[in-house]
Amino acid sequence: MNQAAGDGTDRYHRSMTPTGGEGRVALVTGASRGIGAGIARHLLDRGVRVAGAYRSGRDSVVELAARHPGQVLPVHLDLADPDTLSAGVDEVHRHWGRLDSLVLNAAVWDGGRLTRMDPDAWWRVVETNLRGTATIVRAAVPHLIAGENPSIVIVGSVVGEIGFPGDTAYASAKAAAVGFARSLAKELASKKVRVNVLAPGFVDTDMTAAVPAGSRNAIVEATLLGRFGTVDEISRAAVFLAEDATFCTGTVLTADGGWSL
Ligand SMILES: NC(=O)c1ccc[n+]([C@@H]2O[C@H](COP(=O)([O-])OP(=O)(O)OC[C@H]3O[C@@H](n4cnc5c(N)ncnc54)[C@H](OP(=O)(O)O)[C@@H]3O)[C@@H](O)[C@H]2O)c1
Repeated sequence: MNQAAGDGTDRYHRSMTPTGGEGRVALVTGASRGIGAGIARHLLDRGVRVAGAYRSGRDSVVELAARHPGQVLPVHLDLADPDTLSAGVDEVHRHWGRLDSLVLNAAVWDGGRLTRMDPDAWWRVVETNLRGTATIVRAAVPHLIAGENPSIVIVGSVVGEIGFPGDTAYASAKAAAVGFARSLAKELASKKVRVNVLAPGFVDTDMTAAVPAGSRNAIVEATLLGRFGTVDEISRAAVFLAEDATFCTGTVLTADGGWSL
């Protein structure tokens, strides 16, 4: 068998080199604000076309599309509404005819000590995040398999590894994402689809805006680099996993300024 005979050799070698963004298509969930919006901007800077998924923040993705004509497709995906998930993935593929990279960044958060948290609310966090991830991935895999340097990046959290009080539900979902990603990496290796997790520490976004000053100071003090991370720093790490990390699969990249050490 050789390349000309169509044995996949060419595709095999191409999977070892970053492809450059031109022509590529990425779907980024939670692209309306915070880390997801940063990832979308960094991918666009690399020339990657971005399907920017929003739940309620349509306007900001539409604005991004206006700034990058022909490069951004706003897509509605609600993790809590499974019907929107596969429909959204199919819409991206119908529009651009390909999907090379999937960045699962959106997540729902709700917290409280286990013994004080309403059990239904607790399960909603675990189920919405985990079911949402699995549903989007299931819909995307057939398209990714045909992509160039195909990759899946799941935005997890160091909280899934080391825990945090008041976060048993969120941390359970984030820990599950690691087992999910590692198993999926094994399932998709033969198709050259890389699957990795990015585990940020504390980052300045809407999600952490309500952290009380006392807790914030304690976190900053416990972080080796002495501060919260920025959206740009986390976005660059996500783009590294999605685009450049051609020998990484099943890995967890921690980006927490040393907080979890
Ligand atoms: N910030 C941190 O310190 C930190 C630390 C570790 C991990 N993370 C992880 O990083 C990721 C992004 O967090 P962030 O801080 O950027 O959050 P954020 O600023 O609160 O933004 C959340 C994003 O997720 C989307 N979203 C929320 N619920 C959704 C749902 N049910 N369906 C679909 N989309 C939904 C929102 O969409 P709309 O605006 O359109 O509603 C928004 O784009 C999350 O996975 C989070 O767990 C964050």
